[in-house]
Amino acid sequence: MSSYLKCVALIFFAACSNQKILPVLQTNYDEPHRPQIHFSPKEAWMNDPNGMVYYNNTYHLFYQFYPDSTVWGPMHWGHATSKDLVYWEHHPVALYPDSLGYIFSGSVVVDSANTSRFGKDGKIPLVAIFTHHDMKGEKSGSMTFQTQSIAYSLDDGETWTKYSGNPVLRNPGIKDFRDPKVSWYKAGKRWIMTLATKDRISFYSSPDLKSWSKQSEFGATVGAHGGVWECPDLFPLQYEGKEVWVLLVSINPGGPNGGSATQYFTGEFDGTAFTPFATDTRWIDYGSDNYAGVTWSNTGDRKLFLGWMSNWQYASLVPTQKWRSAMTVPRELGLQKIGDKYMVTATSVKELDVLVKQETILENIDATSFDLTNKTGKMQGPVKLKIAGDKLESFTITLDNERGEKLIAGYDASTNNYFVDRSNSGKINFEKEFAKKHTAPRLSAKQNFEIIFIIDNASIEIFADGGLSVMTDIFFPTRLYTNIQIQSPEHLLIKTVQYNKLKGIWR
Ligand code: FRU
Repeated sequence: MSSYLKCVALIFFAACSNQKILPVLQTNYDEPHRPQIHFSPKEAWMNDPNGMVYYNNTYHLFYQFYPDSTVWGPMHWGHATSKDLVYWEHHPVALYPDSLGYIFSGSVVVDSANTSRFGKDGKIPLVAIFTHHDMKGEKSGSMTFQTQSIAYSLDDGETWTKYSGNPVLRNPGIKDFRDPKVSWYKAGKRWIMTLATKDRISFYSSPDLKSWSKQSEFGATVGAHGGVWECPDLFPLQYEGKEVWVLLVSINPGGPNGGSATQYFTGEFDGTAFTPFATDTRWIDYGSDNYAGVTWSNTGDRKLFLGWMSNWQYASLVPTQKWRSAMTVPRELGLQKIGDKYMVTATSVKELDVLVKQETILENIDATSFDLTNKTGKMQGPVKLKIAGDKLESFTITLDNERGEKLIAGYDASTNNYFVDRSNSGKINFEKEFAKKHTAPRLSAKQNFEIIFIIDNASIEIFADGGLSVMTDIFFPTRLYTNIQIQSPEHLLIKTVQYNKLKGIWR
């Protein structure tokens, strides 16, 4: 068919199906700053991951999407899928704004028992629970412009039908009332909705995903409150046979290094209320670019997490052209016990190992001044670097390019902090707070260390001490960084360096 006819056919189809046509720009995923091992939309604006669910051997990723611009606007749910959490396939937009409002963040569940009665002919429904954000209501000064609604899919998430009885949860008069994360609470045989309600989390329950009743509230007086609470998640993890519930809460602003970030609590959940074990403030990631992250539903014993790799402080200013923002690498969550505290750990999923195209292993390295590029050749794209040894001392890892732009990461023993310094990392002037050094406390009490750095064209992710201290930061060099140097005034001895050059995921 000629492209003219294709166009006419598309317009006709779109008119009949009442869907908007989206221009699909071509991309080879090779634009400046385009992440090579991270999910990013082909084009246009993306923020939070939404509706992540594993179903029929497929990981679904929906996301906050505004297809008509590279800045935030009327929110849709974009859609992508992956068989392995590594390679992603794009799908058409899943949910469009409607008369009840924009489609804000939310979750998807597999309604195996067909509690919602949306299933037909034995087909199990996927049910999306999301916030409707009524822009007109907001402008008129109303307090009730955010409500919760549902939609279902009987074709593995490809197309969605919104429920005629929406909204299923009306707003009681709370301006920030959003981001429902729903899960099946086995012991009580009912659905639990974890909802961000201004400065606290509200828990609701439902037998059928359609009628919801409030159970309890948590958090008005504990944790970080530098900004509004958003995008919560609640799930159990096991630690040596003990069940520990984890509550994730994103806040904006008020993060440990400025802008938006995600804190967490550990505790008990009895089907009605969450009771924390401790109320000190902890962060799932101390860097400045991991926000609104939640976990996939229906993944059995594994808890898999993905965050939006940006920060509301500058997300709409970052110097990318065709698209804005990427996701973090998928991470597996776990627990470690430090003293009497259960701490959440996050590490990149093992599935990413398929990307290794060249591996160098070096042993017993004196890191006083060690030029890794000499041994491994220039960096030409994403890499994973793991260093391990018996005694951690101060060190830096410097990535730089021929223009002298550099990103410095490392550990400072005098403050016991890991850090990322992007002060001279390249393009930095698009926002006044961007060029900074960020720190994360070292939480491990052990002398020995294992630190993993995942470096893409425009991001660094650090997983230290089994994922106890995690940092994610983005950066925008005008040319790719090609050199890696390790330096340690304190003569750090690295027992093993594992350096992997990685293939990109888009070709
Ligand atoms: C978090 C957030 C959510 C909201 C969505 C709107 O980044 O503000 O609370 O649902 O983004 O796009």
